[in-house]
Amino acid sequence: MAKVAIMGFGTVGSGVYEIIKDNASRVAENAGEALETKYILDIRDFDDHPDKHLFTKDVNDIINDSEVSIVAEVMGGLHPAYEFTKSMLMAGKSVVTSNKELVATYGTELLGIAEEKNVNYLFEASVGGGIPVLRPLSRCLAANNITRIAGILNGTTNYILYEMFTNNKSFNDALADAQANGYAERNPAADIEGHDACRKIAILASLASGVEVDAERISTEGIVDITLDDVKCAEAAGGVIKLIGYADIADGKVYSHVAPMFIKNDNMLSGINGVFNGILITGDAVGDVMFYGAGAGKLPTASAVVADMVDSAIHSSRRKLIGWKKPETDIMDDGAEKSFRYLIRCKNTEQEIMALTNTGIVYNENGTVAFTTEAMTAKECTTLSDKLGKVESAIRILD
Ligand code: HSE
Repeated sequence: MAKVAIMGFGTVGSGVYEIIKDNASRVAENAGEALETKYILDIRDFDDHPDKHLFTKDVNDIINDSEVSIVAEVMGGLHPAYEFTKSMLMAGKSVVTSNKELVATYGTELLGIAEEKNVNYLFEASVGGGIPVLRPLSRCLAANNITRIAGILNGTTNYILYEMFTNNKSFNDALADAQANGYAERNPAADIEGHDACRKIAILASLASGVEVDAERISTEGIVDITLDDVKCAEAAGGVIKLIGYADIADGKVYSHVAPMFIKNDNMLSGINGVFNGILITGDAVGDVMFYGAGAGKLPTASAVVADMVDSAIHSSRRKLIGWKKPETDIMDDGAEKSFRYLIRCKNTEQEIMALTNTGIVYNENGTVAFTTEAMTAKECTTLSDKLGKVESAIRILD
């Protein structure tokens, strides 16, 4: 019997508690021993809970209890999740988490402590919620050099964009809907400004490259400037706009961005709708592999957290090798030489556009014109936009 603790009894924490209880025999069969929740840490009172005796407000109860071998950190945020996680690892307990902010910010340090203490620090639920993606990326694709990752990593923004495309809702109306449905983070800025997706692509790129990819250095744009005019132009160009966490890895360098990208309807990512996530990973041997499923939500996320607890129980005496190291040299490619095609929306005439670039016009209505460019760097795109003088948006195309 492995005694476990849950830190944080919010949406995901209560899901973890439920799965451990409701699927107890299946979990025991897979872990090789039963998992029993000994503590739930939360600052709130749960006096009416049937298992109210499990609740504590004092983290030291868990740290000092040598019987507890596995801890789920599902509190979210950086502090005190960082301090608590560190204390648990230092005390020789394995920690599993859904906290992408913590993993993207302090993952390298926490993985180092886990290695030193010969325990596990696992975080499958931090990217793609219930979708198995980190473990397949690390293990099942271990024979590949991963060359590219392109993912719809944030359900809230995917929901908003989907509503804009299918129901012609404005950005603000679609955001209000997402909030009413409980999809958006408490502070929706993390979703709509791209920070949540940035943390997730940083984790994916770190695992794919084997070295830490600094989330702070990933160029991050959200979807706040996408308008219904962009939607019309994208539809006319035969595709959709999705918020993409993008990374490519070549010659030991990692280039990464988070930005709205135009995706043709024949690309698999164009069909990831609503709050779902989809992650397209390219390996040099396997080619393209697609991961799809529920990227958020109580039970999907808890499903991945509990699976990590099961794995920690199985690997209690031998560490599960999943993670990355600090890079010895600067591995970040600033993208200055990276070329993408662009979908440009402007108020120029077709003649003005054709005078500057040999391209296909895809939309021309009521003075709004859209066209797609040849592949060019961001600087070249800015130069073209400056020359046109009436550009309203330039969206990279995912080819
Ligand atoms: N706010 C996040 C999303 C939750 O919308 O995807 C899951 O990380």
